Amino acid sequence: MKSEVLPIEGIDYVEIYVGNAKQASYFYQNGFGFTPIAFAGPETGVKDKTSYLMQQGDIRLLLTTSLNPDHPISRFVLTHGDGVADIALRVKDTEWTYKEAIKRGAKGIRAPTSLKDEHGVLKGSAISAYGDTVHTFIERDEYNGVFAPGFVPIKGNGEPVGLQRVDHVVANVEEGKMDYWVEFYGKVFGFSQLISFDDKDISTEYSALRSKVMRNPSGTVKFPINEPAKGKRKSQIQEYLDYFKGAGVQHLAISTDNLIATVSRLQQRGIEFLNTPDSYYAELPKRVGGISERIDDLKKLRILVDKDEKGYMLQIFTKPLQDRPTLFFELIQRRGSESFGKGNFKALFESIEQEQAKRGNL
Ligand code: FE2
Repeated sequence: MKSEVLPIEGIDYVEIYVGNAKQASYFYQNGFGFTPIAFAGPETGVKDKTSYLMQQGDIRLLLTTSLNPDHPISRFVLTHGDGVADIALRVKDTEWTYKEAIKRGAKGIRAPTSLKDEHGVLKGSAISAYGDTVHTFIERDEYNGVFAPGFVPIKGNGEPVGLQRVDHVVANVEEGKMDYWVEFYGKVFGFSQLISFDDKDISTEYSALRSKVMRNPSGTVKFPINEPAKGKRKSQIQEYLDYFKGAGVQHLAISTDNLIATVSRLQQRGIEFLNTPDSYYAELPKRVGGISERIDDLKKLRILVDKDEKGYMLQIFTKPLQDRPTLFFELIQRRGSESFGKGNFKALFESIEQEQAKRGNL
């Protein structure tokens, strides 16, 4: 079932609940080149939590930790480990959007509220998504402060690596639940299905998964949704669900204009990426044909390439960003292609399985 589209302008920020926001902000700053631009905490009148807003290009990550053991954020981190709590979406009218979403079957988490300070009025509301993930609907037309009331600007000096915007945000949901959430984004948001992959597309000798991609008409919001499928061994999606203790965000895909330069700099800073076998690069010229990048450069950095009718794309995946094998980043450079790297699934998943095997979970 598909409804009229909710007018979502784009992803405003992604909030990650962490065990220690101060230390996490160093990781995202010195590892990934995000600049800390705003802070909220006891010093700014927020008594129960601290948040660091990190920015690079159009991407805003909000790192939040709570200061009390019985706080909902502490419970989230205790259960899930560090992970994405909120994919906040920018709207023109939060009150209308919230009411409409509820009417279409969404569960409300926070009724529309207005926060005021000397910089104006910030309006927001929130609904529940898969697992403990929420979507805040944020309306900031009447607000011109650094981020939100309670936040003060901070002087950070991140050295950017060319990360530009969030290309897509991927959900892992429980076996049998993919279609439920596909229908949810169709019915509540009016998103349409861009593409679907089944276990024949996405399986290795051992594990399998199914995936469908939901998106808004302008393509500013793309949400692939994965579920585990039966294979000889445990699906990597199931491993995620086991560690995360339920459904949640598997990865954020972040775009760059020059993936080779971005990945070179990230590797110098110690960011770890999944490995790709040499055999992948031997087959590459035959599979993707003429591309502008030198195969040797791609091979050196372990960058993957895929092609569709519209062009090609380069992509690479980091190792998990925290101790549990849950959230990771994909870095992507699109050269025409709108695909999600179907041609790389096999190489990618075999690489993830090598890591899974090291953890004794394959
Ligand atoms: Fe992806």
